Amino acid sequence: MTPRRTPEQLRSFRWFGPNDLRTFGQRSRLRQMGLGPEDWVGKPVVAILNTWSDINPCHLHFKVLAENVKKGVLQAGGMPLEIPVLSLAENFMKPTTMLYRNLLAMETEEVLRSHPIDAAVLLGACDKTTPALIMGALSAELPFLFVPGGPMLRGQWRDQTLGSGTDAWKYWAELRAGKITQEDWCEIEDGIARSHGHCMTMGTASTMTAITETLGLTLPGASSIPASDARHWRMAAESGRQAVENAWTDLNPSRFLGKSAFHNAIVADMAVGGSTNAIVHLVAMAGRANVKLPLEDFDTISRKTPRLADLRPAGRFLMEDFYFAGGLPSTLAQLLDLLDGDCITVNGKTLRENVADAKIWNGEVIRSRENPLSAEGGTAVLRGNLCPDGAVIKHSAMEQRFLKHRGPAVVFKNYPDLAKRLDDPSLPITADSVMVLQGAGPIGAPGMPEWGMLPLPKRLLETGVRDLLRISDARMSGTSYGACVLHVAPEAAIGGPLALVRDGDMIALDVAARTLTLEVADDELARRRAEWKPAPRHYERGYGALFLNEVTQANEGCDFRFLHSNGKPTPEPAIH
Ligand code: FES
Ligand code: MG
Repeated sequence: MTPRRTPEQLRSFRWFGPNDLRTFGQRSRLRQMGLGPEDWVGKPVVAILNTWSDINPCHLHFKVLAENVKKGVLQAGGMPLEIPVLSLAENFMKPTTMLYRNLLAMETEEVLRSHPIDAAVLLGACDKTTPALIMGALSAELPFLFVPGGPMLRGQWRDQTLGSGTDAWKYWAELRAGKITQEDWCEIEDGIARSHGHCMTMGTASTMTAITETLGLTLPGASSIPASDARHWRMAAESGRQAVENAWTDLNPSRFLGKSAFHNAIVADMAVGGSTNAIVHLVAMAGRANVKLPLEDFDTISRKTPRLADLRPAGRFLMEDFYFAGGLPSTLAQLLDLLDGDCITVNGKTLRENVADAKIWNGEVIRSRENPLSAEGGTAVLRGNLCPDGAVIKHSAMEQRFLKHRGPAVVFKNYPDLAKRLDDPSLPITADSVMVLQGAGPIGAPGMPEWGMLPLPKRLLETGVRDLLRISDARMSGTSYGACVLHVAPEAAIGGPLALVRDGDMIALDVAARTLTLEVADDELARRRAEWKPAPRHYERGYGALFLNEVTQANEGCDFRFLHSNGKPTPEPAIH
């Protein structure tokens, strides 16, 4: 049996227990909030970090969600404290929420460390909130568990189901090609987001919550439950009860998350056809647990992991279908030979125990191991003289003619340049061209926005072209698709080879060989490098300047250098 802490061993006891002037102040202020000793004496304090905001539709329900967690904490004899932290609303923050992921991670870490908290429940869902909260909580080194906000209901337009993001890109292309009317487009706007919850495709949000469950940081099955299903409230209450238990047993993920847990997460990512963004986030999360996760691990695991979940953007169905088909547990149950089933999870059980009884209820949505959608996962890591530190491509979600492709580059210096010239009739572009976007990486953009699914020229759309090979140092939305080489490192803004590409250069992609080659002689590249000048910095002060100074490249997870774990815990602040 796990040894249990005594009330005096609880962290919060160091704030409320001793009899001195400082603790007098703290207890008198608890009383000011209407609390009495019956609320805190001998009770673990469970912080509920709430990323609710009026401008985050994915977290619209988090006030009620937090109440359900509180109920669970109280039922189990703990003291709940709801604490707001930064809300990263994917659709509204400029230039990109990715610029602020590390800011939320820093806030999470410091909020947890500085307050009298014994365990934490993290409420997140919308893309960057999940990795940010987990990165911070791992660095704070407290027991915590994650309550995923849940996917929204399926979108619907007439007789068509609509998937977040994915169908917006699809019908935008149809509108520009003249295949649907402006009136149709307005109806799609009206029906694509029908309820609270995060994007219900297997985009970044669904991928990150699935990964988080696989890491063992949520209750089993939590990540697949639709946000508006009553079972979601019950899962939140159960998470509150579990957090109290974990405060007593000191079940601390920063101690149980090792390399094999992160490898399990990559298996899950590949099996569900997850977002390419997960690669950047997983590397960053692993860094906080002092685990090194080279890009090659993703490629190795991708090659041996079958894709089982038929979810958009790579497949057909949506998260609600996935939930009723058995959700993540039944997917993982098919893969136990590829997983380390002994990894411990936040309910104190192993991953194997958690998924042992999970069954598939709809074999169309979740394929069995014997009948996979593809024998391999959908993401490949590329190397070559154009990306010495790696690049990624989601080859499961693109036209297969690009698996091996060679074509002339059409280069855009930055996003404004792309927007300006995309539909210029004189742009020398054909269906075989390779679109190259520079200056869209962590420093160049800044913040490595989701610009990697470059829009196609109207002229090509009208001739029926729907995919083109595109290369950038940006990310792309997890709901996107197409032959997009992403995360090219080092990025153009710091003089990576991507900065040296010019119009007409031949570029060759070979997914099977995992290579991306710029067919320009080394001496010519050296000549161009000598001429190359960096663009002016985007920020000279404030958080933006800190970001530019400290952010690492995509293959290192884009965390700040000073936030990586060095294996030495940051000490708890002295109370006095
Ligand atoms: Fe929030 Fe997609 S916009 S999850
Ligand atoms: Mg997104």
